[in-house]
Amino acid sequence: MSEKSYQNIIVEKADGITWVTLNRPEKRNAMSPQLHYDMDDALAELAVDEETKVLVLTGAGAAFSAGQDLQLYFRDTAHDPAERRRSNEAAHSWFYQRLTTFPKPTIAMVNGYCFGGGLTPVCACDFAIAAEDALFGLSEINWGILPGGYVSWQIANVMSFRDAMHYAVSGETFDGKKAAELRFVTFAVPREELRQATIDYARMLMAKNPAAVRFTKEAIRAVKGMPAAQALDYLRAKGDALKGADDEDGRAQGMSQFLDEKSYRPGLGPYQRRRAKKD
Ligand code: COA
Repeated sequence: MSEKSYQNIIVEKADGITWVTLNRPEKRNAMSPQLHYDMDDALAELAVDEETKVLVLTGAGAAFSAGQDLQLYFRDTAHDPAERRRSNEAAHSWFYQRLTTFPKPTIAMVNGYCFGGGLTPVCACDFAIAAEDALFGLSEINWGILPGGYVSWQIANVMSFRDAMHYAVSGETFDGKKAAELRFVTFAVPREELRQATIDYARMLMAKNPAAVRFTKEAIRAVKGMPAAQALDYLRAKGDALKGADDEDGRAQGMSQFLDEKSYRPGLGPYQRRRAKKD
């Protein structure tokens, strides 16, 4: 697939990684209706794009995203219910539905300011890697509203109750280092190491069996909140479905490389992927 050009985002592909950059740096990547339309379209296409093995979402310039665009998303659509509804649906589609069901691993690479609605895609990605000096905040309280959309729901899921309550009601900011301590992001690194650390993490993911990665991330999301007996049943069925979906027959390859060839240790790393496409 050739890279498509968009008004408010940039899509670039290199070595299996597709970089999607929110691109309104002069507005700190505040999310306009157009940005939501661009993201919704791009994620729909990239989900089925064979070149995209891992998706990285980041921001241009000093910010990841300053949240919803107060002018274009809120004020300008206040008296245009059709546009309000269209942009609202596109927003919720891409930063919840499309990201949480994306069939390849997703990484939020948080390079700077991340406020309000900007936290939603970070929560929705499978992994988040932040610059230690990135700055997060639930700033809604500072302008007299509550964190709406999916924000409160997401942070109540990702953070502890005490932390979600504290940061939502106080509006206090926290940096990337603190975000890692809170387990809000997977880990944080010095800014100058952010891109390479993200590439290394993406390569680690790409070395694994893609169907197993997909089914595992879907399972981790699905079992949260299920009763144990239901989870057990779901995981049995999911495991059976994985055998059918895995065109590399990873289970058989992994077992044979350990038991017969004695060429690797599953406890210490992945088997050597050899393509064995089924018909
Ligand atoms: N909506 C609309 N415009 C925004 C915006 C937002 N969420 N965040 C930043 N901008 C615009 C500013 O209005 C400014 O536009 P201008 O140059 O035309 O005046 C431009 O982006 C740069 O912002 P500025 O505040 O000058 O940059 P800064 O680097 O000093 O500060 C922030 C960056 C992110 C700390 C600050 O812009 C901010 O607090 N933004 C709002 C964050 C927020 O509350 N988001 C929640 C929305 S749900």
